[in-house]
Amino acid sequence: MKQYIQKIKSALDLNELEKLRIEIFGKKGVLASSFIKLKSLNGEEKKIFAQELNSLKQELNGILQKKRDFLQIQEIEKKMQEDSVDITLFDASCESGALHPVQDTMDKIINYFLDMNFKIQEGPLVEDDFHNFEALNLPKFHPARDMQDTFYFQDSKLLRTHTSPVQIRTMLNTRPPIRAISPGAVFRRDFDLTHTPEFHQVEGLVVEEGDKVSFSNLKFILEDFLIHMFGDIKVRFRPSFFPFTEPSAEVDISCIFCKGKGCRVCSHTGWLEVLGCGMVDPNVFKSVGYENVSGYAFGLGVERFAMLLHQIPDLRSLYEGDLRLLEQFK
Ligand code: DAH
Repeated sequence: MKQYIQKIKSALDLNELEKLRIEIFGKKGVLASSFIKLKSLNGEEKKIFAQELNSLKQELNGILQKKRDFLQIQEIEKKMQEDSVDITLFDASCESGALHPVQDTMDKIINYFLDMNFKIQEGPLVEDDFHNFEALNLPKFHPARDMQDTFYFQDSKLLRTHTSPVQIRTMLNTRPPIRAISPGAVFRRDFDLTHTPEFHQVEGLVVEEGDKVSFSNLKFILEDFLIHMFGDIKVRFRPSFFPFTEPSAEVDISCIFCKGKGCRVCSHTGWLEVLGCGMVDPNVFKSVGYENVSGYAFGLGVERFAMLLHQIPDLRSLYEGDLRLLEQFK
């Protein structure tokens, strides 16, 4: 029976070990038949055989136990090796991304106005002449249409050149009080250092019954907004012209690069132009059938804000999808 010690020791896996266990300790196993044999012996002979048998049983049991522990650990280790996840794989292929700087800037702008209780209004990218021009006090052949090089379709539809048409749609769909911003893509036939044919604007519109809305309301919100975006700056309103506002203004911030001293970015003026605004022109209210109301509007280019915030010299680089640029915004 001693040969079983060797057999147990050389068992290769738990299955083989279990078979051996049954062969030795099972009801019909070798130990059981030896105990039967014991019954046929007598006296001293029986005593010695019984002792031998018992110690052999104990020895076999011990070896079996040890071997089982060993094989169990071996099996777990083997399984772990087969199942293991190579975490370095993730490192190689799944770089964490980041918001595109234009989207990030857009989010910052939108969040400011949402906090100020403005609601988001959206409109179509393919517009018609009425919403994009006519209703905004830009009749056909008006020279100000030249300010906005337009992409036309054959059926007199066009790609909106600004987000201002959403003002018209908002006023036609609702009644005052209105407190809306309209973020989105706009299109112009333009391509150079600071212009791409598709870019993004955020339009703002506030309208109330009677004469409740004043220029100082407009001034307050834009000043507060620009300080929120750019930090410690001065804000200045310059008289300007837009067909859809009267009076109109362009808003400058003190140059964030030279702190107003004058540098190349601000063309040595100390100021950077960042948006257009004004009191909604009475002709615009007329075109949507509004009477006895007052309101202000403003519009800004998101790319311009992103370029200033991140000191990006060439706007076109934002749309080339070059990872070396985008990785800097993580
Ligand atoms: N729509 C103008 C543009 O695209 C921006 C603008 C200026 C919008 C003044 C306004 C405004 O609402 O009041 O250049």
